[in-house]
Amino acid sequence: MHRFSDTRFEKTIKEMELVNTIKELKAKLAEARKIGKKIGLVPTMGALHNGHASLVKRAVSENDVTVVSVFVNPTQFNDKNDLAKYPRTLEADCALLEEVGATYVFAPSVEEMYPEPDSREFSYAPLDTVMEGAFRPGHFNGVCQIVSKLFYAVEPDRAYFGEKDFQQLAIIREMVKDLNLNLEICGCPIVREEDGLALSSRNTRLSAAERVTALNISKTLFASLEYAKEHSLCETKQFVENSIDATEGLRLEYFQIVDGNNLQEVAEWESSDYIVGCITVFCGDVRLIDNIKYKA
Ligand code: PAF
Repeated sequence: MHRFSDTRFEKTIKEMELVNTIKELKAKLAEARKIGKKIGLVPTMGALHNGHASLVKRAVSENDVTVVSVFVNPTQFNDKNDLAKYPRTLEADCALLEEVGATYVFAPSVEEMYPEPDSREFSYAPLDTVMEGAFRPGHFNGVCQIVSKLFYAVEPDRAYFGEKDFQQLAIIREMVKDLNLNLEICGCPIVREEDGLALSSRNTRLSAAERVTALNISKTLFASLEYAKEHSLCETKQFVENSIDATEGLRLEYFQIVDGNNLQEVAEWESSDYIVGCITVFCGDVRLIDNIKYKA
């Protein structure tokens, strides 16, 4: 239940609502905006976990109205198999969102978001040409297509994204500047299981044995944080690569130590005040990403 001091609004919004069309969503939000309510947006692809819950809780605490979009965006999947296998759990998602206080769940169809194929091209080199951009061609173009559509539909005051997708966050910030959008992008820290595994919707696809193996990703990153105190950046990179390569069941796609501002690889710890290690690893056929801040 949402309680606002403005009675006009209280009458309209009592419980979380599921909305499927942009028209309906815009009408509801226009009413809130008219009476000065701040709107927060948390874009998701569903299969929600506590990482998403933490974004929504923050949005709820900082805004009067929180919209959570649940949409598995086809244009950001360069691998059709990955799209087909992406978990879809709207009922469970709604239960979680109600619990954490979301106001609206926006769950549109593909036709609603893409009545016509989206021919817009977003290019934010060098941010989108490295790491995920290099290994998943077209991925960030798809992300920018859907996130910009969501921004136009919701016109939020603030939008919330997890730092686990470190590169995505940097590119969305750039897109907001490029499109002159008037909203604040809020980056939120990675949420981990108690044992350290970064929460991800893809974790549900890990077998029990793979789940144990996958833990070596975060363990390696944390160990590298200690290692980095006494070793050069090159040695630290090698340490992470060797550790992942030595773990049966893990296949390293890339590990890059980058300047957190421009995502370009750095060669020395002194090269920047903001240094982040970004990793992508296959555990079986599940592609997992994680990152760690060496300097922030
Ligand atoms: O991070 C995600 O889940 C997606 O890339 C996003 C931002 C919801 C766009 O589909």
